[in-house]
Amino acid sequence: MRGFTVRDGTLHCEDVPLASIARGAGTPAYVYSAGVIRDRFRRLDAALAGAPHRIHYSLKANGSRGVLEVLRAAGCAVDVVSGGELFKAQRAGFAPGEILFGGVGKTERELREAIAADVKLINVESEAELRLLSRLADEMGAVVNVGLRVNPEVDVKNAHHYMATGEKGHKFGIPIGEAEAIGRLAIALPNVSLQALDMHVGSQLDSFDAYREGTARLVDLSLVLRRAGADIRYLDAGGGLPVPYGSEEEPDLAVYGAIVTAAANALGVELLVEPGRFFVAASGLLLTRVLYRKQSGAKSYVICDAGMTELLRPSHYDAFHRIEAVAPRPGKLTADVVGPVCESGDFLALDRELPGVESGDLLAVHTAGAYGYVMSSQYNARPRVAEVMVDGARWAVVTARETYEDLVRNESPTPQWRDA
Ligand SMILES: Cc1ncc(COP(=O)(O)O)c(C=O)c1O
Repeated sequence: MRGFTVRDGTLHCEDVPLASIARGAGTPAYVYSAGVIRDRFRRLDAALAGAPHRIHYSLKANGSRGVLEVLRAAGCAVDVVSGGELFKAQRAGFAPGEILFGGVGKTERELREAIAADVKLINVESEAELRLLSRLADEMGAVVNVGLRVNPEVDVKNAHHYMATGEKGHKFGIPIGEAEAIGRLAIALPNVSLQALDMHVGSQLDSFDAYREGTARLVDLSLVLRRAGADIRYLDAGGGLPVPYGSEEEPDLAVYGAIVTAAANALGVELLVEPGRFFVAASGLLLTRVLYRKQSGAKSYVICDAGMTELLRPSHYDAFHRIEAVAPRPGKLTADVVGPVCESGDFLALDRELPGVESGDLLAVHTAGAYGYVMSSQYNARPRVAEVMVDGARWAVVTARETYEDLVRNESPTPQWRDA
């Protein structure tokens, strides 16, 4: 399904003109297509049909209540990495048995919250965390279902080294060489039940080799730990499915599905996967208005009302996002598309060829639904923008634009000073 199409010379999201959304909700705004999210969920679900499976959407990619409700209604479960994400998942109606809790640095408070919530699995990333979890579970009179997130130490080929997590020396997961010993410890500890091995080798993966090699290592280790007494019920292959931002190909889901279902079937367990970007990146765009055009030396600038505070990916990851004029004019120019933030690193695109653009025009920054709004900030005292969901011919603001009051809500005008 194509969520964004040009009709009568103007860009639409499903059946709604983006110009109407800009008029009704203002700019900048994130705009999501519910139809695209559902379509991508169904396609991945079908690709995993070869094994019993559950898809746990990685909420970190986009934690908007509107997005979560579309995915939950489609039959998706969720993966969270903080107490805040657990709170958001519960508020959006996910049942405890639909929640995986991961993260490399869970605090004691977060572990207690995950135990109290009785989530499906807590994915543990170190021996120290395992021991703490067992102690907290003992104090709380619980036995906790755990997975071990293993770093399989495979070669990760992907878009940016900030997005690789499964190579030797990375901070994430238990190094594969230590995983058996920590697995045996988990079997011995009375308040944890070791039920899964988990990996997440990186995001925006260029090749499925890392899934093939990583899951093979998890299968071998699961068999060893099962023989040692673990009740292994799941294999968690993580997230990382890539999406095209430019002219790349869509991933071949049949190939991916065959790799990960074969691994789960080799163990006779339920397959868990944790994709985030795959569902939401292409379902969303950032709608921004051109404020000014400007020439500086040889450079042309298109200055917009959105920048790095709304979409950090171009400056943080050197990421490419296709930019399209909502109602293109004749002509052509090559320009840096920048925001209003007081940083030279504040840009949406560099040296980008665009149609003729005038101040007041609307631009759509595509493939912005993942790691967009969630990474936005209030830097330069910029209120966070609105999020809009489109479903067929209807649209709604699912997250209100912040106000100036929101910028100062937590500041104390009369601090309570304490003595040292
Ligand atoms: C543990 C874990 N699972 C899943 C994901 C989702 O990755 P992606 O959005 O690339 O699918 C991430 C992303 O960082 C992650 O850290």
